[in-house]
Amino acid sequence: VKPIILDVDTGVDDALAIAYAVRSPEIEVLGLTTTFGNITVEEATRNSLVVLEKLGRSDVPVYEGSKQPLKRTKNEYPRQIHGEHGLGEAVFSAPVASKGNAHAVDFIIETVRARKNKVTLVFVGPLTNLAHAVRKDPEIAGLVDRVVIMGGAARRRGNVSEYAEANIYSDPEAADVVFRSGLPITLVGLDVTMQTLLPMSQMPVWRAKDAELGGFFADMTEFYIRFYESAYPGIGGCGLHDPLAIGAVVKPELLETEPMRLVVELSGEELARTREVPGEHPNVDVCVKVDAEGFLKHFLSRVI
Ligand code: BDR
Ligand code: CA
Repeated sequence: VKPIILDVDTGVDDALAIAYAVRSPEIEVLGLTTTFGNITVEEATRNSLVVLEKLGRSDVPVYEGSKQPLKRTKNEYPRQIHGEHGLGEAVFSAPVASKGNAHAVDFIIETVRARKNKVTLVFVGPLTNLAHAVRKDPEIAGLVDRVVIMGGAARRRGNVSEYAEANIYSDPEAADVVFRSGLPITLVGLDVTMQTLLPMSQMPVWRAKDAELGGFFADMTEFYIRFYESAYPGIGGCGLHDPLAIGAVVKPELLETEPMRLVVELSGEELARTREVPGEHPNVDVCVKVDAEGFLKHFLSRVI
């Protein structure tokens, strides 16, 4: 069983990734760490606690992390994508459990050190917490088993601009620090996550299967799918971005990777682009192909 830490900015697909992770026997979720991104960090923490409670997994600790990017200021959040509170139209009350006492960055460093070469870090939001962690303790780069990151778009267009993907765009300087850190990175970017789509037709299936949990997830996800259908007419579902990063850990044979040198653009119209530099020493294993049907089947068999 692989121990993982999952770093989230809990919007809709993050919530689906949390569900997939805690319901996968191949991994043990040691804790969730939170960041700003889809919503504020406080909302990310609350949403993470709510989702764990719905899943009956309030035993998983949640550690709050970064409020803001390394150098920039972020005050706007994509409420049109993830909903007013970040969980679509799901209705919920305040979670019973509270966040853990440690800061996310310290939890990451301490856990990686305590379980030398064993921990997989999965990042599905901006990379701010990870950048702070490797800056504070650069040696952890050689002490993690793997870092799986949902972010970037190596060979296809972005989703916030022609070049930029949202997680990298939210803190490009952090992504730059991470890509230069020597961490063993697997990148699950839009190259593959825009192929793994969850269709609206699944929503009544979830509702029928489990009125309580399935209803909660459907209220959340329908909103997200409607956004995808208006932003990308004819797409037929929402991108399962963050769940695919979990898929890369629990069922790696679904993905094909290619080692590449990636750099992050830090200015200009290509801001936050994860650009491939051919011929240079690789720093990232980039997922370039996915068995989309196999993934969707596996994800659906576990999540509700
Ligand atoms: C990523 O951005 C966020 O909106 C999603 O949660 C996902 O992590 C996709 O670009
Ligand atoms: Ca996310």
